[in-house]
Amino acid sequence: MTLEFTHKLGLGTNKVGGHNLFKDLDEQDGYDLVRAALDAGINVLDTAFVYGLGRSEEIIGDVIQDYDRSKIIIATKGAQNPDNDYKSDNSPEFLVKTVEESLKRLKTDYIDIFYIHFPDETSDKLAAVEALDKLKQAGKIRAIGVSNFSFDQLKEANATGKVDFDEDYYSLAHRDEEQERFAYLRENGIGFVPYFPLESGLLTGRYGAADRDKFDRLDDAKFDQIIKGLDVLKQVAEAHDVTLTHAVLAWYMANPNIGLVIPGARNAEQATDLAKSIDVHLTEDEYKAIDEAFKA
Ligand SMILES: NC(=O)c1ccc[n+]([C@@H]2O[C@H](COP(=O)([O-])OP(=O)(O)OC[C@H]3O[C@@H](n4cnc5c(N)ncnc54)[C@H](OP(=O)(O)O)[C@@H]3O)[C@@H](O)[C@H]2O)c1
Repeated sequence: MTLEFTHKLGLGTNKVGGHNLFKDLDEQDGYDLVRAALDAGINVLDTAFVYGLGRSEEIIGDVIQDYDRSKIIIATKGAQNPDNDYKSDNSPEFLVKTVEESLKRLKTDYIDIFYIHFPDETSDKLAAVEALDKLKQAGKIRAIGVSNFSFDQLKEANATGKVDFDEDYYSLAHRDEEQERFAYLRENGIGFVPYFPLESGLLTGRYGAADRDKFDRLDDAKFDQIIKGLDVLKQVAEAHDVTLTHAVLAWYMANPNIGLVIPGARNAEQATDLAKSIDVHLTEDEYKAIDEAFKA
């Protein structure tokens, strides 16, 4: 992990201009929530080409013109090839092209972290990373990431030790990564970035058993387990006089396996509120109680 973070809280921006992913998004909310996050001290922004097919990057590019670029860490991702029906393409030629296009949309000279968003089935993963390393040497990107790679693909990509970050689905209630992957990441100095840290809002405590339909990614057993675990989060949150969202984000920030946590916000109020979790520090007992409550 080659970058220094002031704290472990970043912002996920798939709801910033992500019209292709979410219904009824208001673009002005996207502008406002990025500003709100930066103003509240969240200075890492996680975006991707596929969030609005470039629109999220463009909005972020507009907003950062009013801020000190050197104080902001921008992570973006690419792999979906518009010339091939948006299928994943990890070829060196395509990756170089997509980085150049992201730079233009973000209106910046460099990207702090560039992730290969999804693996394709055929490209040599090491060749893909070596192509990104050339861009790193040229100063166009500062760190190399992979996302949604299987453990074998990650190891292939990192054969020469050049992967800096790994972003995957992982949450308090979805702990598959904890097996051998975390040990490998630690040994190789690769920062882990979990996505869906709030289980798309379910871990905030705003939803309950009656909202089962909204969370079709989760099977019944997992959904019930999360609803039960919320009681423990509630107790910890009350002890700190904060919300469940703050308590759950404090757990990720205290977790030594996690390099950065990137909850997504829908509007400026949520973004401002997320920043409050930076100051929540769990005791060891609280950390363990939350940890146990959500283990399968
Ligand atoms: N690499 C990848 O393939 C990949 C895949 C998915 C996501 N990601 C990244 O990970 C980020 C996080 O994922 P996500 O946004 O989908 O899910 P998430 O972080 O698990 O949940 C975000 C949701 O939590 C709720 N929320 C946020 N702030 C809140 C607050 N202060 N108080 C109460 N509720 C709050 C909102 O729910 P409501 O909308 O219901 O209000 C929001 O939409 C994305 O933005 C994206 O950058 C990456």
